[in-house]
Amino acid sequence: MIRDHDALVVGAGGAGLWAALELAKAGVDSAVLTKLYPTRSHTGAAQGGVCAALGNQEEDHWEWHMFDTVKGGDYLVDQDAAEVLAREAIETVIELEHMGLPFNRTDDGRIDQRRFGGHTRNYGEGPVKRACYAADRTGHMILQTLYQQCLKHGVKFYDEYHVVDLVTEGGELGDGGRAAGVVAYRIADGELVVLRSKAVLLATGGFGRMFRVTSNAWSLTGDGVALAYRHGVPMQDMEFYQFHPTGIVGIGILLSEAARGEGGTLLNDLGERFMKDYAPNLMELAPRDMVSRAIYQEIRAGRGIGGKDYVYLDVRHLGRKVIEEKLPDITEFARVYQGVEPLTEPVPIQPTAHYAMGGIPTDLLTRVTRDTAHTVVPGLYAAGEAASVSVHGANRLGTNSLVDLLVFGRRAGRQMAADVRGVRMPAVDDAVMEPVRAELEAIRGRQGGERAAAIRRDLADVMMDDVGVYRDETCLRRAQKAVGGLRERYRTVAVHDTGTTFNTDLLEARELGYLLDCAEAMVASALARTESRGAHSREDYPERDDTKFLAHTLATRRDGVISLAYKPVTITKFQPKPRTY
Ligand code: FUM
Repeated sequence: MIRDHDALVVGAGGAGLWAALELAKAGVDSAVLTKLYPTRSHTGAAQGGVCAALGNQEEDHWEWHMFDTVKGGDYLVDQDAAEVLAREAIETVIELEHMGLPFNRTDDGRIDQRRFGGHTRNYGEGPVKRACYAADRTGHMILQTLYQQCLKHGVKFYDEYHVVDLVTEGGELGDGGRAAGVVAYRIADGELVVLRSKAVLLATGGFGRMFRVTSNAWSLTGDGVALAYRHGVPMQDMEFYQFHPTGIVGIGILLSEAARGEGGTLLNDLGERFMKDYAPNLMELAPRDMVSRAIYQEIRAGRGIGGKDYVYLDVRHLGRKVIEEKLPDITEFARVYQGVEPLTEPVPIQPTAHYAMGGIPTDLLTRVTRDTAHTVVPGLYAAGEAASVSVHGANRLGTNSLVDLLVFGRRAGRQMAADVRGVRMPAVDDAVMEPVRAELEAIRGRQGGERAAAIRRDLADVMMDDVGVYRDETCLRRAQKAVGGLRERYRTVAVHDTGTTFNTDLLEARELGYLLDCAEAMVASALARTESRGAHSREDYPERDDTKFLAHTLATRRDGVISLAYKPVTITKFQPKPRTY
């Protein structure tokens, strides 16, 4: 089966939906493909807020937001991109308000704002109220609002279509070829469909499922990042992976930073607010890489609760009104998943794998680039967590993920709408689906191979234990060997379900392949970066090295061999300085 649309959006989170909305408004024949149902996309799990320098509560300026983003990212942020982010945050949030998003309000009816980690007034003087929020369900409200708008504007959706390959024309994407569409697997009946297109946006989210303890949904398996990589597009800055400080112990579900933004504290076994020793000015509102490291240090020093591997998040002093009105979901999560009552008890927490700073390299217009010279891949775009534009550098600030997907999702839609005009439909036929059909059939027909779940479990263990908050050469080499071994085992991956109706067994096997690609690039990039910067913390190289590493890593695989190249960071306003809070 073959179908045509002038533009395709892969993924129905915030970035994909806003792009689709712009395409629909511009009258472009377009469609969204999602392996889920749109309102199950992971944007819906974002909790605490979306930052924009509205200054509704306290003086604020987009330049301060830009500075915090650059410093928060340990100066690996491209500053032209951070400027776009901080400026356009304001208009996108106002636009969302006009679409009907139910933000919390100040007494005089403006959007309420709260504090969040690393966001400061006047270039670092102290915390500022910048995060616009809807209780602790901000992402959920964004997703619902954008989806309603898409329905209103007649956006076409292919729900539960799993994209299993990119279609190219004129060669591989890494060699000058263009994106020409996708091959999708219809989950309901296993039918493969070729969707030809002049422009394809990858807005498929991150790959946190490679870790054992993660806030990420089961579906976050790096599909778009890995598919582009398989066609020659590099993965950028994969070594920078964020651990959010406050996950539910063992299972990783997020307890929003908003709890600390509202005044919640972190306590060790001695009942001390230990952040005073790590970030005396911002304390619990320091950036996430620092807070997560501080928690690990406390645990290592034997000051985890009862000597165990967690500390406490304490919100008791905030009182029932604040907790119930501003933090209702996370309060319920603590009750349901931990049996803890946050009104009267401190909540056990530990860092959880949360967000990929790296991904598919793009320019400011969301066009995918394929080398250190920023050469654009025709017809291919990326936005949201799948992309690395790079506004987060080595460590993302809380709330900037939502800002990123709003600002660059909107840009993607507008850019694609402009670019498809006057371009012919690629001349590919449905034979392009045969290689992926053969791969899927090989997995389905294999006798006696290994189940994906076992390989996936081992991957999650190795990534968590050896490529987590702290790394060094020994553990990274061990991880490299282990991931290589897992890739070997994956060659014989097999499924029990050999049918065609909702065969999630088969698709999970396929997703494991994407996770292995992402893991391999992450380990290779982390091994080569012999410095510590943001979320990449090497115990054998504890200092930042701007002479050698003020650069983005580009990891490319050709003929099974990964090669690394480095692309300079764009610096416009803020020269790198030591990063203290
Ligand atoms: O803590 C949170 O609410 C998460 C926000 C984010 O990742 O930006």
